[in-house]
Amino acid sequence: MFRKLLAIAALVTGLQANAQVAQEVKMNQFITTLMQKMTLEEKIGQLNLPSVGFDVTGPLLSQGVEEKIKKGLVGGVFNTYTPVAVRKLQDMAVKETRLKIPLLFGYDVIHGHRTIFPISLGLAATWDPALVERTARAAADEATADGLNWAFSPMVDIARDPRWGRVSEGAGEDPWLGAQMAKAMVRGYQGTDLSKDNTLLACVKHFALYGAAEAGRDYNTVDMSRLKMYNEYLPPYKAAVEAGVATVMTAFNEIEGVPATGNKWLLTDLLRKQWGFKGMIVTDYTAINEMMAHGMGDAKKVGELSLNAGVDMDMVGEIFLQHGIGLVKSGKVPQSIVDAACRRVLEAKYKLGLFDDPYRYVNETRNSTQIMSAEKLLLSKEAAIKSMVLLKNANQVLPLNAAKKIAFIGPLVKDQRNLIGSWSGAGDWKKAISIWSALEQKFGAGKFLYAKGANLVDDPALRKRLNDHDGQIASDEKTPDQLIAEAVQTAQQADVVVAVLGEAFGMSGEAASRSMIGLLDNQLELLKALKKTGKPIVLVIMNGRPLTLSWEDQNMDAILETWFAGTQAGPAITEVLFGEANPSGKLTMTFPRNVGQVPIYYNAKNTGRPFDENQKYTTKYLDVPNTPLYPFGFGLSYTSFGYSDIKLSKSSITAADKLQVTVTVSNTGNYDGEETVQLYIRDMVGSITRPVKELRRFQKIALKKGESKEVSFTLTVEDLKFYNKDLKWVSEPGDFRVFVGTNSQEVKEAALTLK
Ligand code: BGC
Repeated sequence: MFRKLLAIAALVTGLQANAQVAQEVKMNQFITTLMQKMTLEEKIGQLNLPSVGFDVTGPLLSQGVEEKIKKGLVGGVFNTYTPVAVRKLQDMAVKETRLKIPLLFGYDVIHGHRTIFPISLGLAATWDPALVERTARAAADEATADGLNWAFSPMVDIARDPRWGRVSEGAGEDPWLGAQMAKAMVRGYQGTDLSKDNTLLACVKHFALYGAAEAGRDYNTVDMSRLKMYNEYLPPYKAAVEAGVATVMTAFNEIEGVPATGNKWLLTDLLRKQWGFKGMIVTDYTAINEMMAHGMGDAKKVGELSLNAGVDMDMVGEIFLQHGIGLVKSGKVPQSIVDAACRRVLEAKYKLGLFDDPYRYVNETRNSTQIMSAEKLLLSKEAAIKSMVLLKNANQVLPLNAAKKIAFIGPLVKDQRNLIGSWSGAGDWKKAISIWSALEQKFGAGKFLYAKGANLVDDPALRKRLNDHDGQIASDEKTPDQLIAEAVQTAQQADVVVAVLGEAFGMSGEAASRSMIGLLDNQLELLKALKKTGKPIVLVIMNGRPLTLSWEDQNMDAILETWFAGTQAGPAITEVLFGEANPSGKLTMTFPRNVGQVPIYYNAKNTGRPFDENQKYTTKYLDVPNTPLYPFGFGLSYTSFGYSDIKLSKSSITAADKLQVTVTVSNTGNYDGEETVQLYIRDMVGSITRPVKELRRFQKIALKKGESKEVSFTLTVEDLKFYNKDLKWVSEPGDFRVFVGTNSQEVKEAALTLK
């Protein structure tokens, strides 16, 4: 019987594989026939990706796009959406060009399209890839109902430097967690069939190593060893490729002295040859042109470099359009390279089904039913709740008791503009629900006290920079002192104060690096004044990066990290504050004590002189401990959890064995709650030095008050492997440690030997 079943399964797999081959043959024939009709100019036209619309992230704007579309000189556009706008341009492509090739429509759909979910760093803090996949699915559903068929997401750059503003866009510092999130998002966007009207092309970015910009300054130089790349920075991109991501975006930075956008080793040898990526490569915004400023040569030269490196589409820069023909005619770029690039663009269109129906994603009915549907708003609230991280909760000041007198203080209490965070292009902040209106909805008007307390940003120079990019940060008519005095007076009337402070949305994201990453001075002054009232203070923060919160940690009674929580921020925060929901998020980026500790991350190396309090010559600072304020994986709950010792099914395994790691986790507090149980390993001796801990598994479990559960993980030798100095993926026999715990620092430990 079993054999029969196996035979049937093999047959089905075989049939599926055959069908796939047949489909590919059909696609290849179609594209070959089409390309036989194309001139060199039309082929190069397919490689051109101008921006049409409002969102500009670089100094250059695309010009004369409509004329170019009609001449067949555009392969796709981005920043155009809505059925009306997309139809207009698609009409030009399929009605007014010689070969009627439809356009791609791309957009930065990053953490939601119209319904905005928490920023990506917040989504990662859910430690719930299935939930993250659902948010990407919902975003794809909305984006495709809005005319789009290509999302410039997921951003999977490993980020260990919180000064870099773009840490908000990714999953944080860990390669393994980053890989899980990358796969989840690709699955969510692309589904299993790209030709459906609600799936779109995903685009993993920024390939590669963009998160390692020196000093956390955006667009800055990157330099690292191949070992570090392979073991620590490349895994999430590779995972996205293995999950079948359709497109890859190059990074702005250089790698080994050659900008990623012109780096043949990166794009062809590694990505295409080693990893087997078959999809399309697009540059970042004018990244080819920027190679001139990098010092790689003139426009012709950088065009040659990037085409020969393996780039398929030129975003905004039009270097291919201007120089492609000349480069081929002069023999600098083989015609076969342009043919291959053009083929890959056409393949993407074919897979989306655009040759069958160029208007597949232009559907007014779907537009009116899918966008901001009740279901999506609910998902947004769920994701927001699960993204929040409780950083401190002394004396159980949270959850709040609504019978008490509560003062809500701070410039973000009534704010809507900032809730949806950066990279929420099509999101309408006016549809985001503020904390104050959520409170009024739940408890009625007039129940709580309020004071603004401070301007969100007081420093005029910073305010100007942010407002130049739609920050909309106003300065109150009252002076800072008046605002504080009013807040203190309000606090004095209350039993407990909730201070809602943080960054403006534009203080994280692209081109938003900071050298100091604390709360702004004027906000700190407010907190210090409130502290003097002696009232218990709950600090609710909104921000797009780890902040330095040492003073706050010492002086506030509770701290709730809410990131930029999205369209449903207000209701989600309210539910968490009043205990309808129990926070369960955990940090995916280390929070430093001060900015001098940066870069600081949990999966670091031991060094030859690990810190020893009794020894002078060990690795340390004189003025701050080595440990972070809040470690990777950290996050409290209103309840508490206890961990048993670790049980290993064997203390010594061979490469063929499977290892069971088991612990019992108990809810020892007074609330039902969710806990993310984390498993780390350490390779004690290697042919190269190995990190002191590496995340390998996690499981999120729900435990009722008083309940215990056994949590079991299966590890294999794959989980013990790494890239050795020859960049071979190997395991090495020897001693290991297995750790299980509630965060990367508080763990139980067991010894393991690999024979
Ligand atoms: C960003 C990308 C983005 C692109 C298109 C660039 O400035 O680096 O992440 O996808 O603009 O908007």
